[in-house]
Amino acid sequence: MSEVTVVGLGPMGSKMAETFLAAGHRVKVWNRTASKAEPLLARGAARAVTAADGDLLVVSQISYQAMYDSLGDARLDGKVVVNLSSDTPERLREAARWVEGRGGTLITAGIMVPPPGIGQPGAYTFYSGPKDVLDRHAGTLEALSEITYVGPDQGLAMMYYQAQLLTFWSSLTSHMHAMAFLRTAGVSPSEFLPFAQSLFTQLGSDGPMGYAKILTEEFEAGAYPGEENTLHMQAVGMGHVVEALEQAGVETTVPKALKALFERADAEGRGHEGLGTVIESITKP
Ligand SMILES: NC(=O)c1ccc[n+]([C@@H]2O[C@H](COP(=O)([O-])OP(=O)(O)OC[C@H]3O[C@@H](n4cnc5c(N)ncnc54)[C@H](OP(=O)(O)O)[C@@H]3O)[C@@H](O)[C@H]2O)c1
Repeated sequence: MSEVTVVGLGPMGSKMAETFLAAGHRVKVWNRTASKAEPLLARGAARAVTAADGDLLVVSQISYQAMYDSLGDARLDGKVVVNLSSDTPERLREAARWVEGRGGTLITAGIMVPPPGIGQPGAYTFYSGPKDVLDRHAGTLEALSEITYVGPDQGLAMMYYQAQLLTFWSSLTSHMHAMAFLRTAGVSPSEFLPFAQSLFTQLGSDGPMGYAKILTEEFEAGAYPGEENTLHMQAVGMGHVVEALEQAGVETTVPKALKALFERADAEGRGHEGLGTVIESITKP
């Protein structure tokens, strides 16, 4: 079994340390607020002397600035830092150079589950950076989740992670608008739930409502056939949705933003194409 130091003991880092321990690894822990280490020490972890105490440092903190603050001016010769924190892809690339400048190697990562999912079937994490280094530590890291390697560019794991979060947050916010809207007419969220579940499932399917795949194919082909459901028709429909929400007294920030985007694509002369043509407006802001 190998040795790993977990840096950052928020909900994620604490669960990661716990999971490494359960998998039989020797675990050291470090946190800015030292008291958060106590429950893990009771489970058999050791207290790291500094955040750089170990050869494999698994970091989970609020941002990459926290890593700089934690490591300070420590040398990192021969060490591997695996950072699963959120930040921008550009800051991750900058961090890779920073770690390299201190003699270490940075593997970046975006973990796609909340604390209860860590170490559970179905959990996966996007990783980027030098593959040979990741491969050397795969036996330890796979305790957390399946390892999904996306390439050597250290910004890439974060781009995949943020792409998924964008869909997660925006689709679920629309679902919240949908529930709030229906509730104004006395329809309970649980009465609506089967329809919401059906839509979420169908969007990811291969059927006629399988729009994740349909839009992928259209974007790659650069063609957005819209004979049967034009963007213009949908821009008008989206306007009706915004009006309906306003009449129901529901908040409209996100729906209005969608309406504006659809109307822009329409005004750009592509109203006769399908919904996918909106991608052209997204790629040219
Ligand atoms: N929670 C989730 O469901 C989830 C899922 C996937 C990914 N993530 C990502 O995982 C990371 C950790 O998330 P989290 O939910 O565990 O908690 P968090 O609130 O994002 O981070 C808490 C940790 O960051 C540390 N920290 C903050 N500022 C610091 C600084 N300047 N110097 C040193 N340490 C600092 C905290 O130390 P103190 O204890 O001393 O304050 C604590 O250990 C985040 O980047 C998050 O986006 C979270």
